[in-house]
Amino acid sequence: MSATATLSHVYPIGSRVNERGRLEIGGCDAVELAREYGTPAYVVAEDDIRARARSFMDAMAARHADFDVLFASKAFPCTAVYRLLAEEGLACDVASGGELFLALRGGFDPARIYFHGNAKSGAELREALESGVGHIVIDSLHELDVLERIAAEHDRRQEVLIRITPGVAGDTHHAISTGQPDSKFGFAPAEAGEAIARLAAASHLDLVGLHFHIGSQLLELEPFRAAVRTLAGLGDFPVYNVGGGLGVAYGSSDRPPAVADYVDAVVSAVHSELGSDRRLLLEPGRALVANSTVTLYTVETVKRNVSTWVAVNGGMSDNLRPMLYGSKYEALVADRPLAAATERCHIAGKHCESGDVIVRDARLADPAPGDVIATPVTGAYGYSMANNYNGVPRPPVIFCRDGDARVVVRRETYEDLAGRDIG
Ligand code: LLP
Repeated sequence: MSATATLSHVYPIGSRVNERGRLEIGGCDAVELAREYGTPAYVVAEDDIRARARSFMDAMAARHADFDVLFASKAFPCTAVYRLLAEEGLACDVASGGELFLALRGGFDPARIYFHGNAKSGAELREALESGVGHIVIDSLHELDVLERIAAEHDRRQEVLIRITPGVAGDTHHAISTGQPDSKFGFAPAEAGEAIARLAAASHLDLVGLHFHIGSQLLELEPFRAAVRTLAGLGDFPVYNVGGGLGVAYGSSDRPPAVADYVDAVVSAVHSELGSDRRLLLEPGRALVANSTVTLYTVETVKRNVSTWVAVNGGMSDNLRPMLYGSKYEALVADRPLAAATERCHIAGKHCESGDVIVRDARLADPAPGDVIATPVTGAYGYSMANNYNGVPRPPVIFCRDGDARVVVRRETYEDLAGRDIG
């Protein structure tokens, strides 16, 4: 068996164990990266993101004529990722004025940006209008009225979609399920009629279609089909945006649906329920970027009491997901991924609370201070939910490709921590 075969499929495409017996990402030795750029660090295999973007684009192109794949940019909103996905021909979903700013900076054509959010401010709606955002997704009647007024002030017509909450919930953590009736997002199907009627009467807003997003990290396809069915009775529109939500593998035993199977399920449902000549939009976030990235940490201490506690130099400031959602991650010692991982341990962060555990019940190969630990699948909602708890500077983002590494987001400094403090 080759060394490559021993890394699970959750690692970025092209990862392997190199001739020195170390983890290699995007052709770069992880231990060397840790030495050169420090830890913690988000290490991204650029080609992994490109490959996944192409798999969405190719799967759609094979099944449907008029489509766009939108990068749900909340998953990894840094300039280099926006730029890469703009280069790959994707469109973009933003959920705030800040993401809009970043998407424009990253090179997205404003006409191909979709602006979401359940609590957009007047200022954000103005920013969207003034920057020429292609579509705004209306989430409430109040927002509809505010946007109509702002569009009138600017003497502009704005294309909009309506967000529908289809009443379909997939099997996922409650905090990231959005399609159920009792949701802060969108309009229930029964209430959509009023929004549709008001938009028909609005002189500065053009309703072109409907949107839903039922939740995230969904590993079954049926909820997507069910959600499409709920749109069928709501009218006949040229554009349908079926959101994101496709789940990914976090652990080696996870087998999420293939992108092509997901696309096939969604496109088939749209063709049979809504028609094959509609403009169809998909909005993946996690499935584009999650598996591209590995976080590298350095072990600071190993404590053996009831359990073995392997404490690293990051934690809930760079990956909140285990603490917020109980998400499970794998880990290995990057210095020796092939060594027998026999010691059962908890990989703890450096933050001042007991819940700051990145991986519970990990198996590691004789972990010791100074070792470099890698946790895969941190490309989605890792960087984007990072914070400065305990005054810990946020890690850099390092793009790796064909053995070359480049810093695309630098590490925060102590000065950055005080950068907004006045007095
Ligand atoms: N479209 C809309 C309108 C969304 O709200 C989202 C995610 C997406 C698309 C992309 O969903 P994805 O393909 O990534 O599942 N912080 C959480 C995930 C929150 C997702 C929020 N909305 C986590 O770390 O799991």
